[in-house]
Amino acid sequence: MEKHKRSSFTGKIGFVLAAAGSAVGLGNLWRFPYLAAQYGGGIFLFVYLILAVTFGFTLMVTEIAIGRKTGRSAITAFSKLDKRFGFLGVLSAIVPILITPYYSVIGGWVIKYLFVFLTGNGQAAAADGYFGSFISQPVQPVLWFFVFIIATCAVVILGVEKGIEKASQIMMPILVILSVIIAVFSCTRPGALDGVLYYVRPDFSRLSVKTILAALGQLFYSMSLAMGIMITYGSYMPKKTNLESSVRQIEFFDTLIAFIAGLMIIPAVYVFSGGDESAMSAGAGLMFITLPKVFLSMPGGQAIGGAFFFLVLFAALTSSISLAETIVSILMDKLKWNRRKSTIITTVYLLVAGIPSSLGFGIWSGITPLGMDLLDFFDFMSNTVLMPIVSFLTCVIAAYIIGADAIIEEAEAEGAVFGAKKFYRFMIRFIAPVGIIAIWISSMMASLGVFSW
Ligand code: PFF
Repeated sequence: MEKHKRSSFTGKIGFVLAAAGSAVGLGNLWRFPYLAAQYGGGIFLFVYLILAVTFGFTLMVTEIAIGRKTGRSAITAFSKLDKRFGFLGVLSAIVPILITPYYSVIGGWVIKYLFVFLTGNGQAAAADGYFGSFISQPVQPVLWFFVFIIATCAVVILGVEKGIEKASQIMMPILVILSVIIAVFSCTRPGALDGVLYYVRPDFSRLSVKTILAALGQLFYSMSLAMGIMITYGSYMPKKTNLESSVRQIEFFDTLIAFIAGLMIIPAVYVFSGGDESAMSAGAGLMFITLPKVFLSMPGGQAIGGAFFFLVLFAALTSSISLAETIVSILMDKLKWNRRKSTIITTVYLLVAGIPSSLGFGIWSGITPLGMDLLDFFDFMSNTVLMPIVSFLTCVIAAYIIGADAIIEEAEAEGAVFGAKKFYRFMIRFIAPVGIIAIWISSMMASLGVFSW
């Protein structure tokens, strides 16, 4: 058996940009703004920020430390820590295997919209019924989805340093600059200020358990937690890189982009809809149905729309790269295949496995497990069912099997100082596992219709 050295990021900036690239994705640009709008604007933002520096921090430190300590991807990392937890490796490996195909279907839609805006046909995309008729076609969305997968896997096959690190170094700065430009443009439209205030001013009368749970669910999604990604990336992290400050920077990046995404979208939709809250919380349709209309109602909307979808595409790509890399690293670690072979097999799998999610909006719309279309079903199985279980068990193994001190020791490798030690210990032992079980039970029940909020 050929023994190869594990590849690694070249240093702190490389690691932070790649991990932030993973975290910043459709979750920030598409999911966060509509959740914020739906749950009362400022109050959601407020709760989210608190959870990010408590739960988000704790779990991300844990996952990256486990990855770096074991030098393995999730599937073998847990069994290396404790033989009895091998099943947790399998569970967390299933998450990216389920998510990547459907995430890439949405990535394909983004490329399609970018193409439409760039070719000056934004008007068509803003017409009623355009989105629905596009996603229900049997062939076109599948072809765009293929383009997205090929772009993702082309980076992954190049490896950690030449592929992932390079791609993130190019895409992340462009992403930040574009999002600031679009946000400034959006917030300076006449009448946008009320929308900005709605978004940033917390209205405490709207604080509810439901808001907290929605924010916690969004946090996991957004920070790429509980899906093996941060363990895998941690395994590529050099020992000399400071873990605590890296986590702070990744969190900052992720939250900043989510915040800016809200600034891009909420005031613009606020102006467009005359402050109608239901228009702003239009859910999944916000990005593909409402936003094209909003852009085209503005002067220069065609160009802004093009820039917006370009930005979304970059964000989606750096995330799908991390998801695909996680699958590839599983194959490399478990089956000892080389990167090339692992990436090719992963590409073929993704190309095939995403097709049902795409067809679920058209010719396969009759297949509705648990009453959901296929894309929502895969999303439900991964995000609502599996991810909380994985993160709960990750807390258990960190706090009670290897012990919080083992994680702390990893964070303090090569003389680094872990400032939030006491806080971390308390969070990982008590607050994090209890909080996670709470979201798990309540969101499962809500999704299965046992009760409605
Ligand atoms: N964290 C990324 C995002 O916010 O889009 C990527 C991601 C991966 C999101 C997996 C959600 C998910 F289930």
